[in-house]
Amino acid sequence: MPAPAERRIIFKHIDEEGYSNDLACYQKHGGYQVLQKALTARPEDIREDVKKSGLRGRGGAGFSCGLKWSFVDRKSGKPIYLVVNADESEPGTFKDRYIIHQDPHQLIEGTMISCFANDVKQAYIYIRGEFPEGARILERAIQEARDAGFVGRNICGTDYSCDIFVHRGAGAYICGEETGLIESLEGKRANPRIKPPYFPAVLGLYQCPTIVNNVETLCHVKHILDMGPDEYLKIGTPNNTGTRIFCVSGHVKKPGYYEYACGEITMGQLLYDVCGGPREGREFKAVIPGGSSAKILRFGETFTLKNQDGSERVLKVEDIPLDFDTLAACGTMGGSGGVIVMDDSVNMVEALANINAFYAHESCGQCTPCREGSLWMKKISSRMVHGEAREEDGELIKSVADQIAGRTICAFGEACSWPTQSFVLKFGDEFKAYNEDKKTKSADRLELV
Ligand SMILES: Cc1cc2nc3c(=O)[nH]c(=O)nc-3n(C[C@H](O)[C@H](O)[C@H](O)COP(=O)(O)O)c2cc1C
Ligand code: SF4
Repeated sequence: MPAPAERRIIFKHIDEEGYSNDLACYQKHGGYQVLQKALTARPEDIREDVKKSGLRGRGGAGFSCGLKWSFVDRKSGKPIYLVVNADESEPGTFKDRYIIHQDPHQLIEGTMISCFANDVKQAYIYIRGEFPEGARILERAIQEARDAGFVGRNICGTDYSCDIFVHRGAGAYICGEETGLIESLEGKRANPRIKPPYFPAVLGLYQCPTIVNNVETLCHVKHILDMGPDEYLKIGTPNNTGTRIFCVSGHVKKPGYYEYACGEITMGQLLYDVCGGPREGREFKAVIPGGSSAKILRFGETFTLKNQDGSERVLKVEDIPLDFDTLAACGTMGGSGGVIVMDDSVNMVEALANINAFYAHESCGQCTPCREGSLWMKKISSRMVHGEAREEDGELIKSVADQIAGRTICAFGEACSWPTQSFVLKFGDEFKAYNEDKKTKSADRLELV
C-alpha cells in the first residue's frame, strides 16, 4: 500500500512560500487567536481538554501530557513554573530546532496557553548552547509577542500576566533530562536529581512545582484547543493520538522532516515511499526508530503481536505502524521521533562503537553503573574496531549493558544500555565474524579514543 498523505498540523504553514517567522506573518494565519480564546476559558477545563485529547509527550518517554499536568502540586502555595525543553540533544532528532527557526510563535502560543492552564506566571525555554540562532530567533519573537500584548503583563487585556525567558544551556546531552535541565537552569552542573523526592511536578525548579514539556508537545496544545479534543482524538490511533514529526536521517534518498498521524504510516511506507528507499545498489539493513537510545530494528526480523481479540499478527520491520504502543510492543520505542536508517554498507560493530563513544562522553558520572559501564562499553567496542577484540567481548559488552539499566538515578542508564543490548542481540553474527576476523578495515578512519 502506498503511503498515506502527510497530515501537517505543526508544520502546516512552515514550508509555505513566503511564510516567515515574524509575528505579522503568524497573525495572518490566525496566530494567537487560540490564546485569546483560551483566556476566556477556565484553566481546569483546558487541562481537562488536554487530558482528554490523549496527547503524549514528544520529547522521548511518550508520557501523557494531561496526566503530567494533573500531578502538579497546586496546593503548596509556591509558584508553579513551566519549562520548555528545547535541548533536543538526542542524536538523530532535529524537529524542535526547525519549529523554533521557522515558527517560533507557534511554540510561544502553545507555551502561553499551557501556562494559563496551569496558573504559571513564569516560563523558561531551555535551549541548548549549540542553537545560538534558535535562541536569537526566540528572543526576538518573544519580544514581538510581548510588545503585542501576548506575553508579559495583562495578556490580551486580561488580568493574567506571565512572562517567558530564554535560557541557553552550555551543551551536554544530560541537560535534556528534565531534572538535569532544572539543575542547569538553576545555574548548577546538570546532575539529574533522584526521584523520589524530586518529581518536578512537586519539587522542581527552585524546589517549586514545575512542568517540563518538549517543544513539539507544547505546540500540540494550541491545536487541541483550536480543534477541540474530540476532533484531535480522531487523528492517529487509540492511545496514540495526534501527529508526529519524524526526523529521518541516514541512508535514504530523501532524508528530512515528515509529519504523519500517529500509527497511520508504517516504517516501510516512510522509508520506501516517502523517503525514496535506499541508495542505488544498496539495501536497508537496520533502523533506529526513536533517537540513538531506542533499540535497533534489523530488517528481516519479525514480531508476533497480540490483537485486541486475542488473535496474533506477525509484523516485519517494514509493516510496523509508527506509533508509541506498536513500537514498544516490538521491543523498541518511538522516543524523540529521530529515525536513523542504516544500509548494508554499515558495519554494526563500528556503528555501535560510535554510539558508545557518545554515551561514555555524556554520562554525568554520578552513578557508578552508568559512569563505569558506559566507559567500559566504549572501551570494549573501541578495542573491537581496533582489531584487538577478545574472544569473550560480544558477551562481555552485553553483560556490562545489562548491569546498567534499571540501576541508575536517571534514564540515561537505559539510554546508554539499549543500543549495546540490541546491537549485540540482533547482530551477534556480525560481532562474532568481525571479532574473529580481527582485521579492521576502518579503524584508521574512526576517531575512537
Ligand atoms: C538522557 C536524557 C536526555 C533527554 N533529552 C531530551 C531532550 O533533549 N529533549 C526533550 O524534550 N526531552 C528529553 N528527555 C526527556 C525529558 O527528561 C522529559 O521527559 C521531557 O522533556 C518531557 O517532555 P514531554 O513529556 O513533552 O515529552 C531526555 C531524557 C533523558 C533520560
Ligand atoms: S544515569 Fe548516568 S547520566 Fe543519569 S544520573 Fe546516573 S551517571 Fe548521571
